[in-house]
Parts: sequence; C-alpha cells; structure tokens
Amino acid sequence: MTDLVQNAAGDLAADSSRKDHPMWSSRLAFILAASGSAVGLGNIWKFPYITGENGGGAFVLVYLLCIALIGIPIMIAEVAIGRRGGRSPINSMRQLAQRDGLSKRWVWIGGMGMLASFLILSFYSVIGGWALSYVGNAAQGAFVGADSDTIGAMFGGLLADPIALLLWHSVFMLLVIIIVARGLSSGMEKAINILMPLLFVLLLVMVGYAMNTGNFAQGFSFLFQPDFSKLTTEGVLTALGHAFFTLSLGMGVMMAYGSYLPKKVSIVKTAVTVSVVDTAVALLAGLAIFPLVFANGLEAGAGPGLIFQTLPLAFGQMSGGVLFGSLFFALLVVAAVTSAISLLEPVVEWLEEQKGISRFGGTLIGGISIWALGILTILSLNQWSDVYPLGMFERFEGKTFFDLFDYVTANLMMPLGGLAIALFVGWFMSKQAGENELDLGNGAGYRLFMFVLRYITPAAVLVVFIYNLA
Ligand code: PHE
Repeated sequence: MTDLVQNAAGDLAADSSRKDHPMWSSRLAFILAASGSAVGLGNIWKFPYITGENGGGAFVLVYLLCIALIGIPIMIAEVAIGRRGGRSPINSMRQLAQRDGLSKRWVWIGGMGMLASFLILSFYSVIGGWALSYVGNAAQGAFVGADSDTIGAMFGGLLADPIALLLWHSVFMLLVIIIVARGLSSGMEKAINILMPLLFVLLLVMVGYAMNTGNFAQGFSFLFQPDFSKLTTEGVLTALGHAFFTLSLGMGVMMAYGSYLPKKVSIVKTAVTVSVVDTAVALLAGLAIFPLVFANGLEAGAGPGLIFQTLPLAFGQMSGGVLFGSLFFALLVVAAVTSAISLLEPVVEWLEEQKGISRFGGTLIGGISIWALGILTILSLNQWSDVYPLGMFERFEGKTFFDLFDYVTANLMMPLGGLAIALFVGWFMSKQAGENELDLGNGAGYRLFMFVLRYITPAAVLVVFIYNLA
C-alpha cells in the first residue's frame, strides 16, 4: 500500500514533513481510491443478479437499509481505526488494542480480513476474466443483431470452456499482479480518475437506452416496489452480506486506506460520499439491466450471467453498439481491477511484514496462490458444477466451490469482521479516541452516531445472523 499511496499522493508524499507515513494528497484522492475499491463487479455484476434472484424491490429496500444503518457506520469506524493506527490492518489493530489496554485477540479482525481477501480475489478474477473476454466479443461485433438465444449461447459457451476461462482469469490476475508489484503509477492514477467517471456516464447512457427501448416501467417497479412475499430470510442475509461486499467492508481494506488519511479530513462526510457513489452505481446498473430483461422476456433470476446475457442484447441493437459495448466492458474491467488491487494489497503487505519478503516476491507469492485457487472457481462452472464440497451441511447444500467462496466471505466473514469493528469502536476503544477521529464534536451528532454504532449496527447484524442460523 505504501508504494501505491506514495505515488498516488504525488508531490505531497515527497514533502519532507510527511516522510514517516505518506498521506493522501487530498480528501478527493482518498474518495477516489476508496470508491475505486468499492465500485467494481459487486455493483454492476453482482447487485443486479442477486436482486433478480431475490425478487427485486423488497430485497433492494433491505439492501439500502443495510447500507445506511450498517455499512456507513462501519465504514466510518473502520476508517477511523485505520487513521488512528496508521499501519497495516493487523498492526493497526495490535497498536490500538495495546494503547487502550485491550486483548491482543482483536488482531484477528485483520487476519480474518486477509483470508477473506484471498478467497474473494480468487473468484473475483475469474469474473473479471469474463468481462475481459466480452471486450473482445463486443469489439469483434459478436453482439450485432444477435437475439437472446445467440447471446445466451455465447455466455454458456464461455462457461463450458475451462481453458478459455483459465486464459482470461490469468490475464486479469497478471494485470493485477503487475500493478500491485510496481505500485500504482501517477499516470495510471490519472487515467483511472477519468475512466471511472466515464463508466458512470456510460451507465447513464445505458439507462437512457433502457428508457427508450426497454420495458422501463416494469424494470423500475421491479427494483423499487417492494413485494415482501418474495423476501426470504436467506435473501435478507444476502442483502446484508452484499452491503459489506459492495463497500469493501469488514476486512481491513478501508482500514488500510484510512491509515493514509490526513487528520483534517472529515471521515464521516467522506464515508457517506463513498457509500452514496457506490449505491448510485449499483442502482444505475439495475435500471439499465432490468428493463432489458423484461422487454426481452428473459429470466430476472438467471444468476451470475445476468449482465452478460442482457447488456449485449442492447449493444447489438443500438447504433454505435460496437463502440459502446467494447468501451463498457473495458471500463468494467478497469473498475474490477481497481477493486482487485485493494484485495491483493493486504495479502502482499502482510507477506512483506511477516516474512521479510520483498514487495515483488510477496506480490508473486500472493498473486500466484490466488490465481491457483481461482481454478476451483473455473471448474465449478463446468467439470465440477455438481461437486458440492460441503454438501453434507444443510446450509451449504448445492453449493459449488465458487458458491462457497462467495457465500462464506460475503455472508459470514465480512459481517463478522464488521460486527467486531463496530463493537471495537463502539464499546472498547477509548472515548477520547473516538471523539478525536470522528470530528462530530461531543454533542448530539456524536451521541447519535455512537448510539447507532453501539446498538443498532451490532443488533442488526446479529438479528440477521440468528434468524438465519435458527
Ligand atoms: N467492493 C468491491 C466490489 O463491489 C469488491 C471488494 C470487496 C473489494 C472487498 C475489496 C474488498 O466489486
């Protein structure tokens, strides 16, 4: 992370007064980096498909509630821990626990987060590979005039081909490894700062297209008209887990980013901004996709292939679709890469700290192990699509390796990590530290935030957990 930020912070990092620990050059630099981590496949690929699988509106409402009552408070707490600790997640936790005379066990938040990063990136890279292969498809005009059967067969063909999947997964992982090994260059940083807003604009174009040609009214009401009869307890857990996944919470990523945040920046405002941007991208993706789903008689619950089976239909029919389509998938890859960097970074940082390995060596060891683990996800999509490693437990019935990695990280590990973070800042960290970091003064704003963090956030996570286990 140090390299990444040193470069990202540009001139300021070179400022001699800051040489002990580099800082983000501005609040904006932090917002861009944190949004880069948050906005990714979670928003454009995962949110629409889990919304489709869980019946729409009621699920979206629960997800939004989870963002507001659980996600935002935990993001604030996590960034605050990072800024106060000023180190990698594991060492920040160690440092803070020591300073306030608390148990060393809190370090486990960092450890579990690192394991979650490892597991998530192994499948995230495979999906990033899908997006990469679709850049090629779009550029070659494979979508032009294609109907939904052709588009569906194209996606099915990709999943059925482990060699192609392995190839794209390798390319994606290689990109991430190169960037993390070298640190994010300031040129790349500038490029990302242009490309991400461009992705946003392109999503708006797609929503515009969906308004004109799709079944917009039906798509809109699917997303925003809650029908609680469609919501299951499992769906509520999925919504909760996704709030963590999409905001990159509960595993130390935001802690690491927070350690570079200058003291004068408001954590509260910043966390709210990042969460709003992230949520807006997800909702726009939903508004672009569901009108197409209904206009073309597709299945909202089609699963992980949803965006790959709907958006190409639009690109195949709209004018300039070859250009828009290639650009869209390329930008999706960029969004995925900026998230993937934040997933590999903690692993590399830990390898560097623990074993005295060089950054380059750490990136290679971490990257290659994650790449290898990704093969299990690839096989889950074809040869091993009916291998259910934990099938003997009712909870994990019918889940492939891929399903398990996704489920265990998003629905269990991240909420648990987030719960621990909320409890740490709410109940254990010294009151003065909280007041110092949170710039809410010690008046009503501070008391309200602490009330939410101490009671509402942990209770919400626990209630969802207990309902699901019962
Ligand atoms: N938030 C990212 C996304 O929505 C995924 C991610 C999860 C990144 C956890 C970092 C940590 O795609």
